[in-house]
Amino acid sequence: MLKTEWIEAGYANETVDPAIDLKAEIRRMAKEKNAVIMAHYYVPGEVQDVADFIGDSLALAQQAAKTDADIIVLCGVHFMGETAAILCPDKKVLVPDLNATCSLAESCPADRFAEFVAAHPGHTVVSYVNTTAATKAVTDVVVTSSNARQIVESLPAETPIIFGPDQNLGNYINSVTGRNMLLWDGACHVHARFSVEKILELKCEHPYAKVLVHPECKGPVVKLADKVGSTAALLKFAINDQADEFIVATESGILHEMQKAAPQKTFIPAPPDDSTCMCNECEYMKLVTMRKLYLCLKHEWPVVSVSPEVAEKAVRPINKMLEISAQLGI
Ligand code: 13P
Ligand code: SF4
Repeated sequence: MLKTEWIEAGYANETVDPAIDLKAEIRRMAKEKNAVIMAHYYVPGEVQDVADFIGDSLALAQQAAKTDADIIVLCGVHFMGETAAILCPDKKVLVPDLNATCSLAESCPADRFAEFVAAHPGHTVVSYVNTTAATKAVTDVVVTSSNARQIVESLPAETPIIFGPDQNLGNYINSVTGRNMLLWDGACHVHARFSVEKILELKCEHPYAKVLVHPECKGPVVKLADKVGSTAALLKFAINDQADEFIVATESGILHEMQKAAPQKTFIPAPPDDSTCMCNECEYMKLVTMRKLYLCLKHEWPVVSVSPEVAEKAVRPINKMLEISAQLGI
């Protein structure tokens, strides 16, 4: 369904009675409809709190692949819903707002990526999960930030590799594996906005704070990190490490779970380089509100659909990622 059709259907503008206890009603409907609510760490905290499961991109895909629910409500961005829909063709997959896309996925249109792949024959094509289903359909193996390094390392050393779409993640994986992957030049507009200067300013104010960095950040920012990792890896590090203070250079939604898991510690969001705002938010993830989640469950709409032709091709590299991850215990 097109985004405009969804708006015309009227649900996006439907008034919700302010007296409704959204949390209670969402939980009631989820039980009644045998729906599972999955949320990424970047969506607003109250949405995370009402979910059955919170995770990073890999965990959400793994969880979708094994759920026995009839409906999956993916509180995240569109490509996450597509991945769940591809893995679970017999289930209804919903996203609370179809406009929740991803600048990184959009930076890699499938037709242009297919031309790039065709121009470099003999390469194994590794794509970050932050891609559309159509881009995954021209991919050999999908990766997330939780398993990219290990999956690239599992390929024979002499294999020429195309990696897309995130150039920053690709550069990071090249640096830690010694590979020389050919990179697509996409980037996440949120992670690309972190700056060395702003993080160093925070370091001056909090000299004992450890710096946590997502590998979608630019190389000079990654070099400042005490820990580089996916959202789940950064969360785990923050919980287990001895430090009391952490500067967090990823989307600020992760601070909600960090603060809940380690309330005695201090988490400081790294700001973007181009504003006076103190934290760096993904406007797409923040489209996922309690109101929209309520309407989405109520109307079982909007549904994420992937054409069978695209799904048939895209499921192979996604399953390959899940198989390798399972073998490696990730
Ligand atoms: P992870 O969930 O793999 O940490 O990736 C972050 C991200 O940008 C998701 O869109
Ligand atoms: Fe996409 Fe960046 Fe938002 Fe993640 S944070 S969903 S990569 S735009």
